[in-house]
Amino acid sequence: MSNLHGLNRRAFLRNAGLTAIAGATAGARNPLSAAESAIEFQAPGSVSSGGKFDFDTVYSRFGTDSTKFDQQIRNYGKGAVEVGMGIADIDFKAAPSITKAINDRVKHENWGYLDMGVWTPKVVEAVVAWNKRRYGVTIDPATVVLSNGVHPALIAALKAFSPAGSKVLLQTPTYNGFYSDLRESRTVAEESPMKFVNGKFQMDFDDFERRISIDTHSFILCNPQNPTGNCWSQEDLLRIGEICLKHRVVVLADEIHCDWVSKGQKYTAFASLPNKAVVDNSITFKAASKSFGLAAHKVAWYYSTNPDFMSRVRVHHRADLNTLGMVANHAAVADGEEWLVQANAYVSATHDFVVDYINTKIAPMIKVHRAEGTYLTWLDVTGVAEKINSTKLAEDYNRTKPANMPSLTPEQMVERYFVKTAKVHLNQGRSYGKGGENHMRMNIGTSRKLVELALNNLAAACRNPVATNLF
Ligand SMILES: Cc1ncc(COP(=O)(O)O)c(C=O)c1O
Repeated sequence: MSNLHGLNRRAFLRNAGLTAIAGATAGARNPLSAAESAIEFQAPGSVSSGGKFDFDTVYSRFGTDSTKFDQQIRNYGKGAVEVGMGIADIDFKAAPSITKAINDRVKHENWGYLDMGVWTPKVVEAVVAWNKRRYGVTIDPATVVLSNGVHPALIAALKAFSPAGSKVLLQTPTYNGFYSDLRESRTVAEESPMKFVNGKFQMDFDDFERRISIDTHSFILCNPQNPTGNCWSQEDLLRIGEICLKHRVVVLADEIHCDWVSKGQKYTAFASLPNKAVVDNSITFKAASKSFGLAAHKVAWYYSTNPDFMSRVRVHHRADLNTLGMVANHAAVADGEEWLVQANAYVSATHDFVVDYINTKIAPMIKVHRAEGTYLTWLDVTGVAEKINSTKLAEDYNRTKPANMPSLTPEQMVERYFVKTAKVHLNQGRSYGKGGENHMRMNIGTSRKLVELALNNLAAACRNPVATNLF
């Protein structure tokens, strides 16, 4: 149970009695799927058979203090969430190379300082080889700097290029964590909304260029794009890169999702663009954390062909890397490729499954956009928002809440509605900036059985909207 500012938040909210769907029958059946009891769980430690990894048997993360599942239970109450589809990490059992390397290291029960003179080059060498092998990108190992995450590296870059109070370009909707990086560097978001044309997100080049002014020095590019899953083409990247070069805006290319690309799609590394001046005007930020589910191991990297940029960022950057993080990341990029290839194919097929399910069984209450990469799905929930009158719910809540509690958005009302009626937790769209209104982000990086359970529950909640106390 969350306890905000010393107040018992849930008790207050329960008493506030905010209910979605005025006039609907109170106490109607919670639309939980019968499939719930049919879910079988994978045991920890089980191995792949015949070189084929099992992504299908559900690998439960309940009771492991996971943000995706357990934190939601803590927020919403015991039994309230059946499928966590929020924060961007995957539920699959890790690649065996990672678990083996960690187990081997754990056998030596001493945790003193690690010789980074050995481990940094070892990890960097594996990262360079991975990028060459998989994407044909040549990276000079001398230019790669390890970090504790993409966030600390991005913050260091923002501090290097964008003075406090200056503007940072974002193409929205975009990864909500960028807004916290901007807060940390005391910079201000300049949002250029993407266009949605014929079912596809596009960069709005004219709008983007118009927004550049004398105090705009950096642009955070997200490719593949979180939350829409877009994989930008070489043409898109060149054009946006040329605009940035012309106006002396540094491109901070966050490519953390590059290893998740759907069948028939392509990730184009910014550093591979056929214009040296454009590439020299950029820094790339990556990690194996999204690819291999290593978010808690706190290792990422950045590199650039521009030595001046690298030394400017270094002034603001410090990494305190830890032993198991280095061991795990090395094992991932050195020996985890086959696991990732299979995981990627599995998630690509899950994207097809989700789009087909929503189009045939849930639309128009929820509409879906087919992602090209990532394990994220961007949902238009306008139908649900209108049905429950999420705008009015948020207004009523914000008018009556105690002054020391944060305001909630209409999308947070939809988030709560899905938890209450479908036991599914999704991320609310408005946190992704302009264009996030009436949208939710759904993380499908999990067993398809769990995805199906979530969709069954959501479909039932959309079919038979019930009067639900949202708090
Ligand atoms: C686009 C993007 N960048 C960065 C991050 C966070 O990176 P890290 O955990 O390495 O700081 C995320 C996590 O979801 C992300 O989606």
